[in-house]
Amino acid sequence: MRFSNPIPLLFTLSSIKSFVASQSTNGSVDLSWYAPAASQIDNLNTVINGSGVYGFIFNSSVLPRGTSYGTYDWCNMPHVRAQEYPRVNASFSLQYVEVIHRHHKRTPYAANTFPIESYPWYCDDEGLFYYGKPLPSGNGSADTYWSVYTSSSNPLAPQGFNGTCQFPQITRGGLDDSWQHGKDLYGVYHDLLDFIPKHYDSKAVSYRVTNNVITSQVAGMLISGMYPQTSGRDIPLLIQPDSIDSLEPAYTCTTASNLYSAYGSGSNATGWLLHLNASAPLYASLDALSGVSPTDEGFHMSWDHYFDNLSSRLCHAKPLPCNITNTTLCVTEAQAEEVFRLGEYEYSYIYRAAGPETLQAAVGSYGIWVAELAENLRHAVNASEPSSVGNATSERVRYRHNVAHDGSLSRLLAILQVETMVWPGMGSEVVFELYEGKDHMQGWYLRVLWGGQVLRSSNPSLGVMDLVPVQTVLDYFDGLVGVNATKIPGICNGG
Ligand SMILES: *[C@@H]1O[C@H](CO)[C@@H](O)[C@H](O)[C@H]1NC(C)=O
Ligand SMILES: *[C@@H]1O[C@H](CO)[C@@H](O)[C@H](O)[C@H]1NC(C)=O
Ligand SMILES: *[C@@H]1O[C@H](CO)[C@@H](O)[C@H](O)[C@H]1NC(C)=O
Ligand SMILES: *[C@@H]1O[C@H](CO)[C@@H](O)[C@H](O)[C@H]1NC(C)=O
Ligand SMILES: *[C@@H]1O[C@H](CO)[C@@H](O)[C@H](O)[C@H]1NC(C)=O
Ligand SMILES: *[C@@H]1O[C@H](CO)[C@@H](O)[C@H](O)[C@H]1NC(C)=O
Ligand SMILES: *[C@@H]1O[C@H](CO)[C@@H](O)[C@H](O)[C@H]1NC(C)=O
Ligand SMILES: *[C@@H]1O[C@H](CO)[C@@H](O)[C@H](O)[C@H]1NC(C)=O
Ligand SMILES: *[C@@H]1O[C@H](CO)[C@@H](O)[C@H](O)[C@H]1NC(C)=O
Ligand SMILES: *[C@@H]1O[C@H](CO)[C@@H](O)[C@H](O)[C@H]1NC(C)=O
Ligand SMILES: *[C@@H]1O[C@H](CO)[C@@H](O)[C@H](O)[C@H]1NC(C)=O
Ligand SMILES: *[C@@H]1O[C@H](CO)[C@@H](O)[C@H](O)[C@H]1NC(C)=O
Repeated sequence: MRFSNPIPLLFTLSSIKSFVASQSTNGSVDLSWYAPAASQIDNLNTVINGSGVYGFIFNSSVLPRGTSYGTYDWCNMPHVRAQEYPRVNASFSLQYVEVIHRHHKRTPYAANTFPIESYPWYCDDEGLFYYGKPLPSGNGSADTYWSVYTSSSNPLAPQGFNGTCQFPQITRGGLDDSWQHGKDLYGVYHDLLDFIPKHYDSKAVSYRVTNNVITSQVAGMLISGMYPQTSGRDIPLLIQPDSIDSLEPAYTCTTASNLYSAYGSGSNATGWLLHLNASAPLYASLDALSGVSPTDEGFHMSWDHYFDNLSSRLCHAKPLPCNITNTTLCVTEAQAEEVFRLGEYEYSYIYRAAGPETLQAAVGSYGIWVAELAENLRHAVNASEPSSVGNATSERVRYRHNVAHDGSLSRLLAILQVETMVWPGMGSEVVFELYEGKDHMQGWYLRVLWGGQVLRSSNPSLGVMDLVPVQTVLDYFDGLVGVNATKIPGICNGG
C-alpha cells in the first residue's frame, strides 16, 4: 500500500489540531474528530495480558453453532442478508444504494510469509482468468487462466510457500464466499425490496474494482451470485487509472502519508511504540520460531505481517506454523490470539483512537472516493429521468458496488468516525442507502449499514446513521473534502 512509504516527518500534533479546528463546522454540521467509545480493543493491558479475542472468530468462514450472525468473523465478515435485514417502514422509499466491501479471503501476501515455510499451499481448485478480447466484436478469445508452476531448471525457490498459488490470490473458499455475498445482496435488494432488476442490466447496476487483481477475482463470483445468467457473459468492471484510483486508494497524498508515518506504523511516536515495546517478548518468541530476522522492518514496525500470516492459515483450516528444524516448537493458540488482539489494537489506533490526526489522514487519503459517493447521492436526489436511460457510468445507475481493501474500508470508517473501530476482516461491508420520505417525512434520508446493521458514529452530527437527513451527511462530506473533492489536492500537497 503506497501510503505506508516512510516519508520525513513534517507535522506536529499542534499543527494538526489547529488545522482541524480551523474548519470544524459547515453550517450546523460538526466536522471535528470525536474519540471512539471506550473499548477493550484499545486497552493495552488487556491486549498484552488478556486471553481470547473478544469472541471474534478467526478460523472459519462459517460461524460455530450457537454463534449469532453479526459476530465478527475475520474470515468472512457479516454483511447485509435477508434474515437479519432491518426493514425501513412504509414512509420511506429506497432510491439509491452504494455498497463497498473488502475482498474475500485469500492467501497471505508473499511479503508476510516466513523466510522458509514448513508446508506448501495449493490453489489447483480454481483458475485466475486473465485475457484481453476485442470489443464489441472481432475474433474470439479462449478463456485463459493462470496455472502457477515452478521448473527444475529454475534454481530459485519462491518466497514463502511452495505450491501452486500466487501470493496473494483469492482462494477457492474466498471465491465461494464472494458468490454467497452476491446472492445475499440480491436476496435483499431484489427478492425482499424489488429494488434492483431481476436480470442484470448495466444501466441500473454497476460494479467497480481496484488495480489490485484480487478485487476482480471477487467481482466475477459476486456478480454471478447476484445474477446467475451473467456466468460466461462479458460484464464491465469499472476501474480508474492506477495513478489516480480513489477506491484502492492508490492516488498520492503526501500529507496523509506523512501523517500516518508520523504517528502510526513505522513511526517512533511514543503512542505507537507503547504497544510494540509491550509486545517485545511475543516478537522474540515468534522471530526465533519463524526465522524472521529481529531487524526485519516489515515484520517489526507493526503486527500486520504476523497477523496476516497466521490468520490466513487458520481461515483455510491449515495448522499454525512450526519451526522447520524443531517441529515440536509451534505457534500456540494463545500466541496467535495475542497477535490478533494486537492487530485489532493497531487498526483502532491508526484509524480512530490516536486522535484528530486519524480523521485528517483519512480525509486526505480517501476524500476523493467520499466526494464520488457524495456526487452519486446528489445525482440520485436530483434524478428526474427513469433509471433505464444511460450506461454503467451514467448518473442513472441505482446500485453501485465497489470491491476494495482493508485500507479502503478503514479510511472510510475513520471518516464516518465509527464508534468502535476494528480491523475490517475479509468481506467487511458498508452500505449507503438513500431514501425518499413521504407524507409527514418529506425529504431525503441516508441510512448506513456496517456489517449489515446501522452504523453508529461518535460524531454527534452523524450519530446513529439511521435515516439521517442526507443534507447533513453531504454538508459533513463537503465540509471535509469539498464538492468534487476540490479541497483534496490542497490538503494532499500540504495546503
Ligand atoms: C502485563 O502484566 C505484567 C505483569 O503483571 C505487567 O508488568 C505489565 O505492565 C502488563 N502489561 C501491560 C501492557 O499492561
Ligand atoms: C476455532 O477456534 C475455536 C477457539 O479456539 C475452537 O473452539 C474451534 O473448535 C475452532 N474451529 C475450527 C473450525 O477449527
Ligand atoms: C415510520 O417511522 C417514522 C419515525 O421514524 C414515523 O414518523 C412514521 O409515521 C412511520 N411511518 C409508518 C408508515 O409507520
Ligand atoms: C520447497 O521447494 C524447494 C525447492 O524449490 C525445496 O527445496 C523445499 O524442500 C520445498 N519445501 C517444502 C516445505 O516443500
Ligand atoms: C480475425 O483476425 C483476422 C486477422 O487480423 C482478420 O482479418 C479478421 O477480419 C478477424 N475476424 C473478425 C471476425 O474480426
Ligand atoms: C526510529 O528509531 C530507530 C531506532 O532508533 C531508527 O532506526 C529509525 O530510523 C527511526 N525511524 C523513524 C521513522 O524515525
Ligand atoms: C520503547 O523501547 C525503546 C527501546 O528500548 C525505548 O528507547 C523507548 O523509550 C520505549 N518507548 C516507549 C514509549 O516505551
Ligand atoms: C528454529 O528454531 C531455532 C531455535 O529457536 C532457531 O534458532 C532457528 O532460527 C529456527 N529456524 C528456522 C528456519 O525457523
Ligand atoms: C524443540 O522445541 C521444544 C519446545 O519448545 C523444546 O522443548 C526442545 O528443547 C527443542 N529441541 C531442540 C533440539 O532445540
Ligand atoms: C455513459 O453515460 C455518461 C453520462 O451519462 C456519458 O458521459 C458517457 O459518455 C456514456 N458512456 C458511453 C460509453 O456511452
Ligand atoms: C457545506 O456544505 C454545502 C452543501 O453540501 C457545500 O456546498 C459547501 O461547499 C460546504 N461548505 C464548506 C465550507 O465546505
Ligand atoms: C462538480 O462536478 C459536476 C460534474 O462535472 C459539475 O456539474 C459541478 O458543477 C461540479 N461542482 C463543483 C462545485 O465544482
